[in-house]
Amino acid sequence: MPKERVSSGVTGLDELLSGGYVKGRSTLLAGGPGTGKSILTWHFLFDGVKKGEKGILFSLDQTSDMILEDMQDFGFDPKGAINSEDLTILSGTLKLVPTETSYEYVIGFDHPLLREQPFTVPRLAELVRKKATEVKAKRIVIDGLGPLLELAGDHSEIRQLVYGFIRDIADGQNTVLLTHELKAHENAQNDEMPYFICDGVVKLDTMYSSGDYVRTMRVVKMRGAKHDMRRVMFKIGSEGIVAFPDARLPD
Ligand SMILES: Nc1ncnc2c1ncn2[C@@H]1O[C@H](COP(=O)(O)OP(=O)(O)OP(=O)(O)O)[C@@H](O)[C@H]1O
Ligand SMILES: [Mg+2]
Repeated sequence: MPKERVSSGVTGLDELLSGGYVKGRSTLLAGGPGTGKSILTWHFLFDGVKKGEKGILFSLDQTSDMILEDMQDFGFDPKGAINSEDLTILSGTLKLVPTETSYEYVIGFDHPLLREQPFTVPRLAELVRKKATEVKAKRIVIDGLGPLLELAGDHSEIRQLVYGFIRDIADGQNTVLLTHELKAHENAQNDEMPYFICDGVVKLDTMYSSGDYVRTMRVVKMRGAKHDMRRVMFKIGSEGIVAFPDARLPD
């Protein structure tokens, strides 16, 4: 039985994905800084808004104000979606706080109801899950796994906590997108861990050719699903991301 798909909101990418991300599973958008990971998650969320599928955006990379401003630049209507409860944004930043003997990371949310509470990874998973049930969300985005890994601290703990976090959220009902910045350095095993944990991986990149930078995307893996392996060119413009599966990549 072919698995049900959920549109990425970008026509050219849906073509590579044989229709969209696999419903009820987790897909990682991996790439360097500024490669378009966040914008790609917004296409997914607003495609849901258009179809009456509610979404949650959880971000530890940017404040809500910045996210709203940037979404609006691409013609999305985040305020309308928030008012109609089609979109919930939970954003916060990582803070280092002193303990009796050393320091630990906690998350400070900019949402007024959450502002005072320090959050750990399990409590965070609980919060996202609770919110998803409450608003009956179908699409969940975790933008920036980096701060979560930071929060988890010790290496073996990282694997356990983040794995549990992703599994708890992608429970077969919610289609989950996660973003992560992959580092290029030699000892990048821990950074690459989300690669193995997620059911699918889409890699965003830039390549330099004939004096210009070209943006590319490639579906690296999709567990249990058919997809195209081609590396495809895309552009970011006033309408956001547009992919060109039929354009020839420069040599
Ligand atoms: N209005 C615009 N028109 C064209 N390109 C834009 C526009 N706004 C942003 N960009 C491009 O998109 C990039 C940011 O995309 P995005 O925030 O999705 O990247 P990211 O992969 O999430 O980055 P980070 O790792 O820093 O979170 C910018 O660096 C810029 O190159
Ligand atoms: Mg981003």
